[in-house]
Amino acid sequence: MKSKIIERLRASGGFVSSRDLGAGLGVSRVAVWKHVRKLQELGYRIASGPKGYRLASEPDTLFPWEFPGREERIVHLATTPSTMDVAKELARRGCPAFTVVAADRQTRGRGRLRRVWQSAAGGLYFTVVLRPNLPVPMSARVNVAAAVALARVLRRDYGVEAGLKWPNDVLVHGRKLCGLLSEMEAESDRVAFINIGIGVNVNNRVAGIEPPATSLKALLGRKVARREILRRFLDEFEAGTAAADWDAVIPEWKRFSVTLGRPVRILAGREEIRGVAIDVDEDGGLMLQVPDGSTRKIVYGDCFAED
Ligand code: BTN
Repeated sequence: MKSKIIERLRASGGFVSSRDLGAGLGVSRVAVWKHVRKLQELGYRIASGPKGYRLASEPDTLFPWEFPGREERIVHLATTPSTMDVAKELARRGCPAFTVVAADRQTRGRGRLRRVWQSAAGGLYFTVVLRPNLPVPMSARVNVAAAVALARVLRRDYGVEAGLKWPNDVLVHGRKLCGLLSEMEAESDRVAFINIGIGVNVNNRVAGIEPPATSLKALLGRKVARREILRRFLDEFEAGTAAADWDAVIPEWKRFSVTLGRPVRILAGREEIRGVAIDVDEDGGLMLQVPDGSTRKIVYGDCFAED
């Protein structure tokens, strides 16, 4: 009902009488008034007067009804330790693919390699549950596909030059805009679920020195609606995974890569390896040409440009 009221007010752009609203939705004027009150409490500014109701402004909150067609699969939390934990619980209990857990803030946001992911208000923090029909060794491609979908949306819809840094950061002009984290559980040798956690610096203050960070607001000079990014990303990612063309994912990643062809330094635990990043193989491993001329495959670690 809430989404229908919002849609009707949005479509009108002006005042809609409570009688018209009620008639359109098949409810009484009192019921309309109660829903409007609830929406106002949730941050929607709805003006009321003799001509009815008018939508003055909307909060950028990731309410399920802001995702038509996905309402049942969006879990929105104001604050949670980490969306990864909630998503894991839901996935273990059998939630459908493309269930999304989104939070306005996280108190224990996690990054790769056990790092903390600062999750201040204004950023976009979510985890998507996926259930691809894939053998475990191919599971890395799901994470890669998510990064590719995100880069596409950022380039096409926001005009930013999003590039992909191995293993899976989204950078713009050398600064980190988004990070991706994946967690997988398997049944025998098939993937049971893969949860992809994504943090996007949108309107939040950024933290991060290596690589330095940026936000969409800083890049575009204006605030950006988080729910619009999430909507667009989910559409892009779901269309990509529905095609299930997992062989196309790595070549796509390479198109957006800002790592390949460059001298890099890899920190993998205590080991430091220098070389030129020459390729990414089908498991998402980085192929590095090291100074003695041989090639090494790197499967995890941090990657720093050495220009
Ligand atoms: C990284 O670059 O190290 C990955 C960062 C991933 C952060 C996201 S925010 C939503 C989800 N919940 C978490 O705790 N982490 C991921």
